[in-house]
Amino acid sequence: MSYDAKFRVWRGDAEGGELVDYTVEVNEGEVVLDAIHRLQATQLPDLAVRWNCKAGKCGSCSAEINGYPRLMCMTRLNLFEPEDTITVTPMRTFPVLRDLVTDVSYNYEKARQLPSFQPPPGLEPGEYRMQQVDVGRSQEFRKCIECFLCQDVCHVIRDHEDNKKAFAGPRFFIRAAELAMHPLDSRTDRAQIARDQQGIGLCNITKCCTEVCPEHITITDNAIIPMKERIADRHFDPLLALGRRLRRGGRKREGR
Ligand code: SF4
Ligand code: F3S
Ligand code: FES
Repeated sequence: MSYDAKFRVWRGDAEGGELVDYTVEVNEGEVVLDAIHRLQATQLPDLAVRWNCKAGKCGSCSAEINGYPRLMCMTRLNLFEPEDTITVTPMRTFPVLRDLVTDVSYNYEKARQLPSFQPPPGLEPGEYRMQQVDVGRSQEFRKCIECFLCQDVCHVIRDHEDNKKAFAGPRFFIRAAELAMHPLDSRTDRAQIARDQQGIGLCNITKCCTEVCPEHITITDNAIIPMKERIADRHFDPLLALGRRLRRGGRKREGR
């Protein structure tokens, strides 16, 4: 069955833009990306949209559909009534390049800032051994397709551009947690980095990131909260605190 669907699509660039109404024929079983492609093919050859796999795996087609962050290729049209108008806008947290395409370089910068996996010194490639239980612990974090929908929805940067410098965002908290849980990562300061360099303290556990993740990664409960607990253990454990005080005292006495 085919019918004429009503779409409201954001058109514009970094200078500004507006929502424009279109009607396009769609077929039963199609997804929002199909309709956007048909609009491009039949009415709007200059409509900018990023996509790649059309299978929910490349993470390119992220947008906001009726204000909710989603992958266009995984959003079925039958979620809406045929008489509804479907509004498609670019991700709000990142600067618009054109139409539905945003500049997501903020995320690449945050990725570069996170110290990479560091195997123990002297361990040769081929000698890395892990127990299945350790592989399993962080398995779900490796399902991330880098769609950045979690980054888009997080109010810490969505509503406060000035927080971007200090805050890495949920996608990179799961990366930090994955490395912290890796038995062969020799960096012992992952929690410290999450606190001082990634700004995890700004996260107030709203769980919106977990809600929108198309890979159903339990970002908040399985990554962010354990990282926050590690930070709390490090800073508020009375024995560790005593150790820190004694070390500081020793340095003072030695005049360092
Ligand atoms: Fe996308 Fe989920 Fe990865 Fe965030 S954690 S970038 S929402 S796949
Ligand atoms: Fe943001 Fe997720 Fe925390 S949406 S506030 S990172 S729980
Ligand atoms: Fe690849 Fe949508 S086109 S995730």
